[in-house]
Amino acid sequence: MKEQPIGVFDSGYGGLTVLKELVGQLPQYDYIYLGDNARAPYGNRSFETVYHYTLQCVRWLFDEGCPLVILACNTASAKALRTIQQLDLPRIAPENRILGVIRPTTEVVGNFTRTNHVGILATRGTVLSESYAIEIAKFYPGIEVYQQACPLWVPLIENNEHDKPGADYFVKTYTDQLMRQSPKIDTVVLACTHYPLLKEKIAAQLPAGSNLISQGEIVAASLADYLQRHPEMEARCSKGSRTRFFTTDSTEDFDNHASIFYGKPLRSTHIDL
Ligand code: DGL
Repeated sequence: MKEQPIGVFDSGYGGLTVLKELVGQLPQYDYIYLGDNARAPYGNRSFETVYHYTLQCVRWLFDEGCPLVILACNTASAKALRTIQQLDLPRIAPENRILGVIRPTTEVVGNFTRTNHVGILATRGTVLSESYAIEIAKFYPGIEVYQQACPLWVPLIENNEHDKPGADYFVKTYTDQLMRQSPKIDTVVLACTHYPLLKEKIAAQLPAGSNLISQGEIVAASLADYLQRHPEMEARCSKGSRTRFFTTDSTEDFDNHASIFYGKPLRSTHIDL
């Protein structure tokens, strides 16, 4: 059978935290990861730019044979997913599918909160899109959503400063700003796939007993469920347990840095878009 991998896309490294869980929970499938590192971060970019870049990356993954693409980036899921699904997919690949990371997360958030006060930590783009507030209201109309943009966290992580003492100041700044919005927040979503690397530092700044949700496991469980409900798509996904990595920037930088996110060493290939 020709390789028909599941495509996993992120602006840079963050989606590797999701891919790690996908491969862990669903090891039988083939995967292709594409990080658009040359143009990352996406978090402060306009709607048009994020849409344009994401569409280019999705098309590349389709051309590589992916029948299904996961946008493992909240910013791309917030700003580009719906437009691509509704306007582009019917035209460019009507039989293919694209899934994001926001919906699976918002579907389960109500299982965690007891106070019905939920905090969202995300990039500025994701916060401004209001995607979390809109989606959570659909599933759990009783939940109050508080959002905090954390524009300095992705640069800290991308520059390998996330586990240094200097990062504590920036972690505290944004977690304090979130908690000042409501002391009743008992559940906080790491709504950016980079943020699991700051998880311990973030947890240390939140009140004891808070739930801190990262998305990898949730997205993997949701994909397993999706493939069970869509046997025609499941049959199209090839099962050779191969994972390949591509970056739009230097492979040397990618290979050196990516293992922090993926949990083990990897070798990437460069592509130009
Ligand atoms: N990992 C991306 C996300 O989940 C953000 C990184 C970026 O700003 O490019 O939103």
